[in-house]
Amino acid sequence: MNAKVHELLNQQINKEFYSAYLYLDFSNYFEAVGLDGFANWYKIQAQEERDHAMLFYTYLQNESQTVTLDAIAKPDKTFTCHMDVLKAGLEHEEYVTSLINDIYAAAYDVRDFRTMQFLDWFVKEQGEEETNAHDLITKMELFGSDPKSLYMLNQELAARVYSAPSLVL
Ligand code: FEO
Repeated sequence: MNAKVHELLNQQINKEFYSAYLYLDFSNYFEAVGLDGFANWYKIQAQEERDHAMLFYTYLQNESQTVTLDAIAKPDKTFTCHMDVLKAGLEHEEYVTSLINDIYAAAYDVRDFRTMQFLDWFVKEQGEEETNAHDLITKMELFGSDPKSLYMLNQELAARVYSAPSLVL
């Protein structure tokens, strides 16, 4: 495997675990303010991010490449309102999309078609993650200022259940 592609894939393990840590922190914020549905939604999001990390980890191992685990950064965002959290979520997903695109571009440059095929799933997944983050912001804009509507939205998010990723390596 090309050294740059290898390095970027290895870094992505850490980025995905950081994403899990970040969303766990979001979940923690919502738990503290009594919005358990939002807390549930982000806790499941954190589980998905751990799955993403493990997919990169397993892909490298399957390709007989070394895996190097680094320290996971501390989530350092502070929030003054619920909307801040949702916006930080969208911003983060846009950042992750840019990382996936960077790895894809590096793989493309060296005609690493297997890595490109592996990343195709993540390209689609990032589209879905950005859509979900957008939808949450829209719903909060529409309903967040009315307590009864916020209660209903919280109930809706409480219903989210975890499902394993559709990509199996
Ligand atoms: Fe692993 Fe939310 O992208």
